[in-house]
Amino acid sequence: MGILDQWHPIYPSRRLGKRPVALKVLDRELVLFRSASGAVGVFPDCCPHRGMRLSLGKVAGDRLVCPYHGWCFDTCGNGESPGSPKLHVRAAALEVAEHRGLVWVKDVGGTGTLPTLQHEGYDLLYLAYVPLVAPVEALMENFNEIEHTGTAHWQFGYDGDRMDEVSVESEADDRSVRIRTSGPTMRQWPTSRLAMGTRSGDRMKFDWTTSFAPLHSTADIWWEDPHTGEVRPCRIKETAYYIPVGPGESLAVSFYFWSFRGTRRLFRHLLRPFAALGVRYELSIDKRLIENVIPQSLYTPGRRLGRFDKGLHELRKLWQRWREEYGVSEVERDNRDASRDVSL
Ligand code: FES
Ligand SMILES: [Fe+2]
Repeated sequence: MGILDQWHPIYPSRRLGKRPVALKVLDRELVLFRSASGAVGVFPDCCPHRGMRLSLGKVAGDRLVCPYHGWCFDTCGNGESPGSPKLHVRAAALEVAEHRGLVWVKDVGGTGTLPTLQHEGYDLLYLAYVPLVAPVEALMENFNEIEHTGTAHWQFGYDGDRMDEVSVESEADDRSVRIRTSGPTMRQWPTSRLAMGTRSGDRMKFDWTTSFAPLHSTADIWWEDPHTGEVRPCRIKETAYYIPVGPGESLAVSFYFWSFRGTRRLFRHLLRPFAALGVRYELSIDKRLIENVIPQSLYTPGRRLGRFDKGLHELRKLWQRWREEYGVSEVERDNRDASRDVSL
């Protein structure tokens, strides 16, 4: 069983045009192309003939043509050599699906099923595709702790001056880690409060579960009146995939959905571009943070974790096991025991 037994989202559909694209992801170098009839093919970026990069070729009709000797391949990998018509050649095509705006891949015969990525009463607010110069561990851990929201984020997170009031609970089984946090929301712009129906001093709640194969989190995020517990009209659901690319590189693909109760629902299409810009900005903050964690320091034995990092301890143990099970290359080659020497 390998990591690509499961479907992974690897590239935005709308970016895949007439030119083949070279993409390094999941420890593989791949070529993606769209045929004239619109189908998508994904192969190793290495011609089965003499190893030329197929991504330097071109698409002709329904085939990707290698620039070296002109062998060409359809999206299923069936190939032919113009100079040797009787030769039977094949590229090792992956299984491909276009779903929710992305190209997804898995190995042929992989047992995974595509997630629906739909929630009743919720609309898609924003789809993020963020390549990172950082190990996937740094990405996964950033999304699993909310302490940094009080310090570094803009409108989305906890009040940095009241972080001591934020509660953190975590629970784990052998496939997932769930983290729940609750505390005073950070100060938001009056326009944000008006749009989302939140008020100053509201309690913000995160309910966040990270599971493996594929490595991803699903989250529920909402705001409540701190006195009555009344839930505010706007809720958010997020699904975030953390995709290893290779040592020191990763890819974040996140889907943000939102729902509204009441009259605000009528205005959601008007509000969406502004809210999407806000999400994009918050993610740019995360990217800067994640890319500036010193990779070698992540699992240095003896590094201290705080109470907000509770779930990370379990997550690190699961990640270590999952990585071995699925044969993902070790990003931190010098610090093999991720679960050792962690203090809380
Ligand atoms: S290397 Fe691709 S056709 Fe020869
Ligand atoms: Fe963040």
